[in-house]
Amino acid sequence: MPINPIFNPNGDDAIENRSIWFGNTTNLMQLNDVRFPWTVNLYQQMRENFWIPQRIDITQDVVDYANLTNDERYAYEGILAYLTFLDSIQTCNIPHLKSSVTAPEVSLCMAEQISQEGMHNQSYQYIIETIIPPERRNHVYEFWRTDKILKKRCEFIASLYQKYIDNPTSENYFVALMGDFLLEGLYFYNGFIYFYNLASRMLMSGSADIFKMINRDELSHVRLYQKLIPEARKIFTHSVDQIYDMFARAVEHECRWTNHIIGNNILGITESSTEQYTKYLANIRLRSIGLEPLYPETKYNKSPYTHLERFSDTKKEAHTKANFFESTVTSYVMSSGVTGWDEI
Ligand SMILES: [Fe+2]
Ligand SMILES: [Fe+2]
Repeated sequence: MPINPIFNPNGDDAIENRSIWFGNTTNLMQLNDVRFPWTVNLYQQMRENFWIPQRIDITQDVVDYANLTNDERYAYEGILAYLTFLDSIQTCNIPHLKSSVTAPEVSLCMAEQISQEGMHNQSYQYIIETIIPPERRNHVYEFWRTDKILKKRCEFIASLYQKYIDNPTSENYFVALMGDFLLEGLYFYNGFIYFYNLASRMLMSGSADIFKMINRDELSHVRLYQKLIPEARKIFTHSVDQIYDMFARAVEHECRWTNHIIGNNILGITESSTEQYTKYLANIRLRSIGLEPLYPETKYNKSPYTHLERFSDTKKEAHTKANFFESTVTSYVMSSGVTGWDEI
């Protein structure tokens, strides 16, 4: 894949010649006129999502943590470790993909995404340093090293990106882009659901408040890739079977990991609800890029966790409540005048 030069005075930024990839950008962020208008609303939404982890009070969670069952504590720590991996790898990988993007308005959204992924890591550190007792913190930071299943999972996810870095062909770029979509669209949500499950039982509600904010950010990233993948499908060599294979594998890996870290040991989550939820998510993500669902059975068209998704508040206006059971607002939304969300 061609990498953009830092500055290309002979480039052509004319709207009619602009393209997301393989264009001839000067690399000046000329944003007065855009070829891809969906980026304007998306970028504004991403910026309005602004939040600061340390402004969210999680002190009650210190008490709750001590009262979790062993299984709940194991899942809490393992999921934190896994999410830390996901946000770390995104912070590292997105700049590689961005360096071949030749539409500045798309590049702008990716730059914001990179910033958010970095900040998500900082929020995990805030949670770990505040809630986890000092003697257990290293265990959480090192979880990916000591837990064989997590390590294998991390290696698999990273390998899709590494393949492109090692051999930067356009085919491998497409695979890495699909890898991003799967990560953003599938890999976070069983983890989010776990925190909402605890909070619905009046446990760790400060952590859930943080995850609601991360959840909202991640959904804006999903929207970005939902726009990019159909454009990429017009340009890059690939097959539909290849996309379905990637989805099937992603679902299989996600269920294996969730069954390992949660299984049937947490009240309100079972291996069967995990499978249903993961396949349901895969179906809606496939539909969002114009493909048929991979799991046509009726039960996979329905989330088993609608009662928890309601708590996440991500489907309503761009604000979240301080606590599931309170009504104060902790987000930093400046105005409610964001339009165009529906069309994304
Ligand atoms: Fe993130
Ligand atoms: Fe993300």
